[in-house]
Amino acid sequence: MLDLFAQAKPWQEPLASGAVILRRFAFDAAPSLLQEMAVVVRQSPFRQMVTPGGYTMSVAMTNCGQLGWTTDQHGYLYSPVDPLTGSAWPRLPDVFAELCQQAATAAGYPDFRPDACLINRYTPGAKLSLHQDKDEPDLQAPIVSVSLGLPAIFQFGGLKRNDPLKRLLLEHGDVVVWGGKSRLFYHGIQPLKTGYHPLTTDCRYNLTFRRASKEE
Ligand code: SIN
Ligand code: FE2
Repeated sequence: MLDLFAQAKPWQEPLASGAVILRRFAFDAAPSLLQEMAVVVRQSPFRQMVTPGGYTMSVAMTNCGQLGWTTDQHGYLYSPVDPLTGSAWPRLPDVFAELCQQAATAAGYPDFRPDACLINRYTPGAKLSLHQDKDEPDLQAPIVSVSLGLPAIFQFGGLKRNDPLKRLLLEHGDVVVWGGKSRLFYHGIQPLKTGYHPLTTDCRYNLTFRRASKEE
């Protein structure tokens, strides 16, 4: 009999050279990821960062791991200290590290050793304008990006800001990995639509794993 509640097995969709979408790859781990995220957030709460240009970002962010991505008056930087608490960022939960390792391996990057995990929270209307992830010194390492909760439209372009964009719906449990030739490709998230998700209610979370220091 057809089991309407059976979850599809994860599948892969090539996105660009060095980039792949691992559909539903994090679906089973999602409840534990969200539980551990709540622990992180108790120590280093979500905050809306202000860009060097003075603009308050619509996405709320925090970090875990040895380094965290943040902003100050001068620019964007990775810091070992959470400027909000004055303490180290919470450590990377084991379930985060495991999921990231499995996803990176499935995408062809078995040696990825992340030291930074940015956690993004999108509420309706929140968006991330087209940008490159280029604050990392080691561009050999890929980016592993996990979507949780409400779906969002991800834009993925090329090396130039005005290269044509692919628009892909990222759903709960999807993981995007990009590296190699597409490591510096422009990408962004279109404004989140209102909705309801049983695990996150009214928002979308994204975990972005990166290598933010040189491999020792
Ligand atoms: C990012 O580009 O840092 C996040 C992308 C996403 O939220 O899926
Ligand atoms: Fe990014």
